[in-house]
Amino acid sequence: MRRTALLAVAVCAVTCFWALLKFRGESEGGTAPRLESDKAMRLVCISDTHDYHQEIEIPDGDVLIHAGDFTEGGSASDIRRFNEWLGTLPHRNKIVIGGNMDFALGIMSKAEADDTLSNAIYLQDSQVEIDGYVFYGSPFTPKFVGVFQLYNATDTQEMISKIPDRVDVLITHGPPYGILDSPSSGGHVGCQALERKVMEIDPKIHVFGHIHNSYGSMRQGDKGTLFANVAQYSKFEGNRSCKPIVVDLP
Ligand SMILES: *[C@@H]1O[C@H](CO)[C@@H](O)[C@H](O)[C@H]1NC(C)=O
Ligand SMILES: *[C@@H]1O[C@H](CO)[C@@H](O)[C@H](O)[C@H]1NC(C)=O
Repeated sequence: MRRTALLAVAVCAVTCFWALLKFRGESEGGTAPRLESDKAMRLVCISDTHDYHQEIEIPDGDVLIHAGDFTEGGSASDIRRFNEWLGTLPHRNKIVIGGNMDFALGIMSKAEADDTLSNAIYLQDSQVEIDGYVFYGSPFTPKFVGVFQLYNATDTQEMISKIPDRVDVLITHGPPYGILDSPSSGGHVGCQALERKVMEIDPKIHVFGHIHNSYGSMRQGDKGTLFANVAQYSKFEGNRSCKPIVVDLP
């Protein structure tokens, strides 16, 4: 009898915990989605602004993250314009990765790109640590159009193998397979190898974009990783609900 009661309490506690996690992951209100706590590091996440960055209202925070496609087939001068805009924002740190449509970035050396994006920390299969949190960024996506493309399994393996085992904030241009990765035509177009890697390393958050139609956030995985597709472009195709996603890191 007593054992049954204890078991019931345990089951209830676990259920409540999951319900809470789930609720936090889905608590998107009319304003930018706000998740969790007070003394945390605030991340403000966007991607796929495609030359429309100036028309997006960006909330303040500790770290602004742009997960790629800030231009639309951009030249070096488009990237410089984006960099000037970054310079006007108040965030203490700005982290940027490229996307398949950031053409000029795809042919620049890393040093040239660092130079051109002088108002940001530019990650290209590389990491930076801020206040003890490890941020890792990669621009690569499965073969589609443009630059930073994974053409075959060898390319994919090379990209995946560079991702370290300890990452707090994973930033990739494309989604992992099966998570916020459905284009308007339906189905899933995310990267399968990336999905396996993310589930293995359980970052606190995985920020990506690329698939404009799948904007949103959800929790998944053993440690309740927050997955956020932060693509802003649908906003300019009529879906006004696509706003920067704000996350407070515990
Ligand atoms: C994979 O694609 C790359 C181009 O990104 C090419 O250099 C390489 O030879 C290809 N490897 C195989 C095994 O096909
Ligand atoms: C607009 O985006 C919101 C948030 O992701 C989504 O729930 C909604 O279905 C989208 N609306 C349309 C018309 O695509």
